[in-house]
Amino acid sequence: MTTTETFNLLQPYQIAEETFVIPWALEAPPVGHFPMNSMVIRGAEPVLVDTGAPAVRSQWLQAAWSVVDPLDVRWIFLTHDDRDHAGNLLAVLAECPNATLLTTWFSVGRMAEEWETPINRCRFMIDGDTVDVGDRTLVAKRPPLYDNPTTRALFDPKTHVLWAVDTFATNVPAPMPEIAALSADEFRDGQFFGGRLVSPWVSLLDGQKFRTVVDGFQRLDAEVIAGCHTPVLRRPQIAEAFDLLRRLPEIPAWPEFTQADLDRWMAIAEGSVPPEQPRPSARDGRPRVSRLFLADVRASLRPLTGCRAGWPVADSAGAMRRTRCRQDPADHATDSAPPLRTSTHLMPHSQARARKAVVGVSRRGRRHETAHRRPRGRKDVLTCG
Ligand SMILES: [Fe+2]
Ligand SMILES: [Fe+2]
Repeated sequence: MTTTETFNLLQPYQIAEETFVIPWALEAPPVGHFPMNSMVIRGAEPVLVDTGAPAVRSQWLQAAWSVVDPLDVRWIFLTHDDRDHAGNLLAVLAECPNATLLTTWFSVGRMAEEWETPINRCRFMIDGDTVDVGDRTLVAKRPPLYDNPTTRALFDPKTHVLWAVDTFATNVPAPMPEIAALSADEFRDGQFFGGRLVSPWVSLLDGQKFRTVVDGFQRLDAEVIAGCHTPVLRRPQIAEAFDLLRRLPEIPAWPEFTQADLDRWMAIAEGSVPPEQPRPSARDGRPRVSRLFLADVRASLRPLTGCRAGWPVADSAGAMRRTRCRQDPADHATDSAPPLRTSTHLMPHSQARARKAVVGVSRRGRRHETAHRRPRGRKDVLTCG
């Protein structure tokens, strides 16, 4: 079994009989990492479930073909046409000439903005449809949360594996194969954060109607849940995840990062780069800028917090806070500055709730933020260790 110690990105690992996750993840400072997975069912008629992100196309293809010969692939189940799911679709279709694409009319249309999907290789599979793949019959099911109207999850009754697509999305402190590696607080906060991030409309829902939908999804009776943006869930986390999912409509919407947050991150990045080096904020069109920015923000966060593993996530009241650090305290000694017990630098979320942005009008008539006010006596507290 793949453990956190033996886990590597883009190295497929088995999660059930003949079922493999191809793991990838994006760094997402300051909230940690987001999984970006896909799946392979290597049954009598092998199925690719989603096609990975274009950013790692060659590595993703190599990983997939380490599980199954592309000439043996008979089905490509495309959950929806977002780039993290459909980004390598044309390459996969080219390398899997014997595969049929299980998709939807709307997805084909949406993808036409970028490419022409060969309609003669498509089979439409909507909510509730099934497909016989030789040794099992897979079920398409619209999941409770999604960020694209074409989304369908996929359930395998033979292994009781459910591919939940974007439902159960979570941030994680570091990529990991199984969600059981998270603490109870990290697990809860990640579910609340990821759910509202992916589906900000959830706070608009009638709670009773939503719970009915969640109940129906849970009645699939999955024993293993994999998804694009979550480590693998098993019992008892599956029941807990469904319980948390039911609560989402009651929780205030996640306050997004604002321009003030970006300004602060850019200031951190500027301050961390030696004067003789290119500026992170330079608008010279070079692709290094965003990468440099992310790397510098990430590096700069460490001395501010003194902690690599802690990261801010949502609590049940909708505010963001810093989770307890899971890192060995001895490791803190290796950071470039001593850990701070309190700070206000990295709490844009609770700041967003607490502060009032004063919007003014410049002489050119543009709206702009002129100041941020924090209620008197209020202090965000970062606790690490
Ligand atoms: Fe999506
Ligand atoms: Fe996604």
